[in-house]
Amino acid sequence: MSRTKIGVLISGDGTNLQSIIDGINGGNINGSIELIISNKRDAYGLKRGKRAGIESLFVNPLDYDNAELFNRKLIDEFQKRDIDLIVLAGYLKILSKEFINAYSGRIINIHPSLIPSFCGKSYYGKRVHEAVIEYGCKITGATVHFVDDNTDTGPIILQQVVKVEEDDTVDSLQKKVLEVEHDILVEAVKLYCGNRLNIDGRLVKIN
Ligand code: GRF
Repeated sequence: MSRTKIGVLISGDGTNLQSIIDGINGGNINGSIELIISNKRDAYGLKRGKRAGIESLFVNPLDYDNAELFNRKLIDEFQKRDIDLIVLAGYLKILSKEFINAYSGRIINIHPSLIPSFCGKSYYGKRVHEAVIEYGCKITGATVHFVDDNTDTGPIILQQVVKVEEDDTVDSLQKKVLEVEHDILVEAVKLYCGNRLNIDGRLVKIN
């Protein structure tokens, strides 16, 4: 089976990106990251990509008159490299409808909660874990899902639970959840690249 060409969008540290790089280098994933794009010039994930010998670009949203044109630039760059799968690895901007249509069923996102809890527009980064602790939840976790034209609402691929301990802080919880994110993101990308994911309405079947 030919290797899946992967494009990754990031905005920050890139530990999820790193987990995919390591998964590929470990022979775990039948894919190759062809291009990494960040909307943030100082995203450490760009350094991770360059260190791994992967083309890594900063594309400045401020260079474009509007979000549509910025997203069109992203589409152009990915299409130029025949990208099959887009992975949002801590990417904090909303994708345009044009982008989502161009890659319908081929965009995977990682979210640091058990969707449908604590997700949607205002839930990202530490805010998610603050809300989990404030609510008094006993469990939280991470979700990998396909991206549809809303925020964090696409069909769920994998989820994994993390126990919330009484002495957990936002930072300790974020750390525990991030480790789980890495595991299920690598697994989801591996399954996609192995052509083992089938979307059936809201259901993602793994064969
Ligand atoms: C992760 O918590 C991810 O779930 C969220 O943003 C964070 C990115 O972490 N979307 P990293 O940049 O992959 O380290």
